[in-house]
Amino acid sequence: KSSSLLLMEHKVYQGTLVLVNREHPVRYQLPQKDLRPVFPQQPGILMEKESAGMLRKLLSHIQNGQEGIVGVSGYRTKAEQAGIFESSWKENGREFTEKYVAAPDCSEHQTGLAIDLAKNCPEIDFIRPAFPYHGVCQEFRELAAGFGFIERYAKEKQTVTGIGEEPWHFRYVGRPHAELMQREGLALEEYIGWLKQFDLERRPLVLQKPGLTYRIGYVRAQGKLTEWKMELPKSRIEISGNNVDGFIITLALKME
Ligand code: DAL
Ligand code: ZN
Repeated sequence: KSSSLLLMEHKVYQGTLVLVNREHPVRYQLPQKDLRPVFPQQPGILMEKESAGMLRKLLSHIQNGQEGIVGVSGYRTKAEQAGIFESSWKENGREFTEKYVAAPDCSEHQTGLAIDLAKNCPEIDFIRPAFPYHGVCQEFRELAAGFGFIERYAKEKQTVTGIGEEPWHFRYVGRPHAELMQREGLALEEYIGWLKQFDLERRPLVLQKPGLTYRIGYVRAQGKLTEWKMELPKSRIEISGNNVDGFIITLALKME
């Protein structure tokens, strides 16, 4: 039977796949009740609740994950982002600051979906923490996509993201999107664009996993209310805005 979904315009700016950068500022303020601490020893480092849960799960899969890796900065308010931006501008100058600190409202830290992590050391740099390509940090990096996390600012994507290489900054986009981005070698800017060719009914993006099939499609927002109809199979459905112009719908179908 045919199902119908009503997608409201303000939802374009919410969800795990929102693209936040200089061109696409944050438009949705996450409520305080949706924030959770990630590390038991660091109650001040918060993330959006699903992201926090998945990060804790990821860390528990790494031997010494909870001891070897610490949080440096998770959710930030606009005022906090502005404070970091201004103090860096004074201390480090314009070039450095524009490379490593997003302007207020242009930071994904304001969504609760991003976190800076560091190798547990006595000295941790707040803006550029060390998160090396070996040991426990590398183990984290290799498992990250399986739990819905991507390394957001790669060296070879600096011209796409407008931000310098940040091996410490991880962004939750959810499953199976992190894995697809890795497979396709796309930054979030590129992935959001690439997804637009897929349509759930006529041409879905299909990903087969053991016991699970994902079907993904894009729906362009049409004014205040987008009505979207299709024959929905029995499946889990997740809808996220892209913070640009539409929605990404992810169906997860269990295989018997
Ligand atoms: N360091 C990243 C770009 C931020 O400030 O959001
Ligand atoms: Zn960061």
